[in-house]
This record gives sequence, C-alpha cells and structure tokens, in this order.
Amino acid sequence: MTTSAASSASRRRSSAGCRSCASPWIEITHLRTKTLLERVRWEIEGAGFLIRNLVSSHFLKTLPRMERDGLELRGLRPADLRRLSKLHGLLRSGAKLNVWRLLLFCVAGRKLILVAENATAGIIAFEMFYFRKDESASGIIHEAFIGVHPDFRNRGISKSLRTHSSKSYFSSGIRGISTNISRENVASLASALCAGFTIQDHTSTHEKLSLFLGNPSLDDDA
Ligand SMILES: CC(C)(COP(=O)(O)OP(=O)(O)OC[C@H]1O[C@@H](n2cnc3c(N)ncnc32)[C@H](O)[C@@H]1OP(=O)(O)O)[C@@H](O)C(=O)NCCC(=O)NCCS
Repeated sequence: MTTSAASSASRRRSSAGCRSCASPWIEITHLRTKTLLERVRWEIEGAGFLIRNLVSSHFLKTLPRMERDGLELRGLRPADLRRLSKLHGLLRSGAKLNVWRLLLFCVAGRKLILVAENATAGIIAFEMFYFRKDESASGIIHEAFIGVHPDFRNRGISKSLRTHSSKSYFSSGIRGISTNISRENVASLASALCAGFTIQDHTSTHEKLSLFLGNPSLDDDA
C-alpha cells in the first residue's frame, strides 16, 4: 500500500469510528431535546386550557342543587376532588386528571362538573365540561365525560345529569353543548339522545360521533 493510500484508509477508518461513536450520542441529544420541547409545548397548552376555561366559565352560574330519588345533584366542591378523581379513575381505566384540569376544577368545579351524590355511597356519578379552543368564542361548552358507577346504572341517572346541566347552562346563555361519543357506546348514545342531543353527521366514518344540543331559547343552533 502506498503512503497516500494508507493515510486515506486511516482517515476513512477514523471518520467511520467517529460516526459510530457520535451518532447514538446525537440521537440521544435529539430525542431529549424533542421530549423536552414536547413537554414544554404540552405545558403551554395546559396553561392555555386553564386560562381559556377560567375566562369562559366566569359568566356561568353555579350548577344548582337538586334532589331526585334520594340523590343530590350539585356542582363539584373543592373538597370533592379526591373522591371525584377516584371515580374518574375507576370509570376511565385508571386515567388521571392532569394538574391543569385539577386546578381548573378546584377553582371552577361548581360550574363545570355536575356530581350525583348518594347519602350512603357518596359521589356515584358525574358529568364533566370544559370549553374547547374552537368552540368557546361561539358560546359552546363541551361535555368531555359522563360516567355512572356500575352499581347505579340503568336508573336514569345520566339522563338526569344531562337534563339538569343543560337547563342550567342554557339559563346562563350558553348557545349549545357538544359531545363526542364512540359509535359502540350504545348506553351513552341512548342517554344523550334521551336528553335531547342530536347526531351531527351520520355519514362520518370516525370512530366517534359528534352530538350537539342547542339552546332552545336561541334562534339558531350553532
Ligand atoms: C353511559 C352511562 C353514563 C349511562 O348511564 P346510566 O345512568 O346507566 O344511563 P340512564 O339510566 O340514564 O339511561 C338513559 C337512557 O339510555 C338507555 N340506556 C342505558 N343503557 C343502555 C344500554 N346499555 N343499551 C341501550 N339503552 C341504554 C336507558 O334505557 C335510558 O333510556 P329510557 O329513558 O328511554 O329508558 C353509563 O353506562 C356509564 O357510566 N358508562 C361508562 C362510562 C362511559 O362510557 N361514559 C360515556 C363516555 S361518552
């Protein structure tokens, strides 16, 4: 091998060695930066969610207290948050409420979460709302979740929650309530239709159907 051929082979080896050492390091750094950026973006979105909801819910009335068949329906109090989180976890396969939602519901839970409480079993059902970015300016509130403890289903509780919350929101001037329900969730679809929601797009191929309940005292339903 000539001297120049040997030195170019050595350069190739050295650059290959450099690449094999450097690339995992670069990949890890890229991954860390990406994860950090995603985390920052997620927290900014969370803060935006909190601010939007505090502003939009400011004009809402507290969800009023009502008694029905030995159940008390009322807005969530800060002292209920722990029990609510437990029931939320039970009904949503262990899912936890993130810190932004906990903060929001601590401050505005009385306006955004309707609970059903039984004298002996405690909180056995709830309906949770918030304002979505693309709907809040149009006066539309979103029903994010409704759930009834398995021991208390098929007694008309979700229908009562949906009827009670919509009356209260419409009296606060809310234009409509949106919700998304999985096509397979026959129980939730039946309860929403009973409470007056209508399916927005039957032809959609999405796994979830969009439903809407308009304020009957307003002329348009959007
Ligand atoms: C969906 C859910 C909230 C319904 O609550 P519920 O209190 O049992 O419902 P209700 O008793 O108020 O039922 C309301 C109507 O729906 C009907 N319905 C309830 N379950 C049904 C079922 N499995 N199949 C068909 N109809 C059903 C009832 O017959 C009733 O209609 P009616 O007034 O004409 O008799 C409850 O099943 C639940 O918590 N599921 C798990 C969580 C979940 O999926 N949440 C919805 C996410 S969008």
